[in-house]
Amino acid sequence: MKHCLDVNELSYDAVIRLIERALVFKHATVWPAYPRKILANLFYENSTRTRVSFELAAKHLGMSVVNVDVARSSEQKGEQQADTIKTLASMGVDIAVIRHSEAGMPKTLADSAPQNMHVINAGDGAHAHPTQALLDVMTIMEHKPQWPDLKIAVVGDIRHSRVAHSLQALCQLLKMGELVFVGPESWLPTAMPYGRATTSLSEGLAGADVVMTLRVQQERLLAGEHLDLSRYRQDYALTQATLAYAKPDAIVMHPGPLNRGIEIDNDVADGPQSCIWQQVHNGVFMRMAIIEALLV
Ligand code: NCD
Repeated sequence: MKHCLDVNELSYDAVIRLIERALVFKHATVWPAYPRKILANLFYENSTRTRVSFELAAKHLGMSVVNVDVARSSEQKGEQQADTIKTLASMGVDIAVIRHSEAGMPKTLADSAPQNMHVINAGDGAHAHPTQALLDVMTIMEHKPQWPDLKIAVVGDIRHSRVAHSLQALCQLLKMGELVFVGPESWLPTAMPYGRATTSLSEGLAGADVVMTLRVQQERLLAGEHLDLSRYRQDYALTQATLAYAKPDAIVMHPGPLNRGIEIDNDVADGPQSCIWQQVHNGVFMRMAIIEALLV
């Protein structure tokens, strides 16, 4: 694998291999070491779990890590982002992990990067978040070995969610059962390459095996798309009462960050069906598997 930019670039077998490898890392007592390799994190947007899990994943593999402080970098002096990548490659950086508010920016930078540089997309605009989708599917498969027959409901602002877009692409690739997007009309996707959409939470969640709820992404909403938050809560919040629409053994997922009391209640986020912290835990091992696949 040269870069990790979009799940659409992966084959069925490549996805299964990454998940199997991540599970090996999760249960192993020793990990392979790549001590001469260097990973740089370039986060042009805020992040806690994605940035830290890339750092930990690289350190677990014996690599050096540079966290580029983009707000204080030479880009503030007018340097182009492509030149930042060339500068890092010239100093021996092997992998650039890029998060950017502009859709397509990691790919643009990968296309102009020096031959020896690998690029990982850590989330670009509302477009894609491949490493999140991979860790989400890993988590689903751990809990639900009958994953081809699942009903997976994703609730919230689907239209602006790179997490939902990459999960959809991965579900399509793996033929992962029935995928249902649930949300208010203005937040549902305009195109539906896989799965279906509904504005009804009770219908969307009925009989679901997996319920993923998304953060209300205030920063991505356009004028006219803003919703009354208390109205949103009333219609779409994941509470003990609404979770009861799903199967009793349904797992609850959320990519984070959580807006407790808006899209999800405390007793659901911290309840027995929640896999939210396991998603974060699995993220480190999935990112180890992705980094290794780029290096070998
Ligand atoms: C998401 C992101 O930044 O795309 N978080 C994450 O990476 N785990 C989702 C979000 O910001 O709501």
